[in-house]
Amino acid sequence: MTIYNFGAGPAVLPREVLLEAQAELLDFRGCGMSIMEISHRGSLFQNLYEEIESDFRMLLSIPSTYRVLFMQGGATAQFAIVPINLLRGKRQADYVVTGEWGQKAVSEAARFCTVRYAADMQPSGFDDVPDVIETDPSSAYLHYTSNETIRGIEFKAIPEAQGLPLVCDMSSNILSRPVDITRFGLVYAGAQKNIGPSGLTLVVVREDLMGEVLPQQSRLFDYRQVASQKSMLNTPPTFAIYMAGLVFRWLKRQGGLVAMQCLNERKAKKLYDYIDSSSLYVCRVKARARSCMNVAFYLRDELLNSRFLSDAEKAGLMQLRGHKLAGGMRASIYNAMPEEGVDALVAFMTEFERLNG
Ligand SMILES: Cc1ncc(COP(=O)(O)O)c(C=O)c1O
Repeated sequence: MTIYNFGAGPAVLPREVLLEAQAELLDFRGCGMSIMEISHRGSLFQNLYEEIESDFRMLLSIPSTYRVLFMQGGATAQFAIVPINLLRGKRQADYVVTGEWGQKAVSEAARFCTVRYAADMQPSGFDDVPDVIETDPSSAYLHYTSNETIRGIEFKAIPEAQGLPLVCDMSSNILSRPVDITRFGLVYAGAQKNIGPSGLTLVVVREDLMGEVLPQQSRLFDYRQVASQKSMLNTPPTFAIYMAGLVFRWLKRQGGLVAMQCLNERKAKKLYDYIDSSSLYVCRVKARARSCMNVAFYLRDELLNSRFLSDAEKAGLMQLRGHKLAGGMRASIYNAMPEEGVDALVAFMTEFERLNG
């Protein structure tokens, strides 16, 4: 039986990538050692690192005025590292909150500055993106979450930053479609959805925003220091970086981000169209904000939840339980989820509805 993994993260990786890693696990590029066993300072790893950064830059068309940093601590560490670096003498930052991750970013930033809500979608129960974002010119930056993983809320367009540097937590939809990096001051993403295994966080930061860090911070949290040491102030997560490199090469072979966008939109449409046409399932997110990565839905009869989950597992459809804050179900259909996985899920849901609806 084919297993399809709909987990939100750590998430499914392309099978081809796992097979490649398996094939060279004991002997990386003929050196007789595993990639996990070689020094990050040696030329073998250094060359690999250059290739990986350059593939990532190519995929996202990152201009030379931006630095790419390979950091640790997850997106959660960036919730603090962003204000530590980007306040630059200011005392306030603007945040757009469209879900729980944005809220977490706010509570961390509030330890360093006054947080101003440029838009807060909590009062409407997190089911949409805002119509209006109001910034304050005295704020240091505007932060938003391009895809809220828990309830499946995605911005389809980049918000207007109204003169502030725009900062984006892109953890759960980075590399799912092309984006214009020049619209951003900084983008960050934990790796464990569309990039690779957990333990790695990618940061893309405009050069002129670096260098004015809050006092008494570790050098590890100073973007300029991290950039000047090519992300190797200390030992980087070498295996996670290597895996990310395999994923970037896989993405290039798939036709890059234009091809991914086309596939991702097709997969998501199949699932949302089916949910909308059914009388057993319901999606509570407004159509314009429905995520192409995390499809959150509910069974109208919640008493059927556990039967749905156990029958799904018997059919090889894993990790469909919704986040505990949202309840219901969530199908994460990142880049590496093949279209056949979505077809199998729709077929299962149709049959489940026929038997239980
Ligand atoms: C949008 C978003 N931001 C932040 C995080 C937190 O990431 P990490 O666990 O890498 O700190 C997640 C994790 O799932 C996420 O989906």
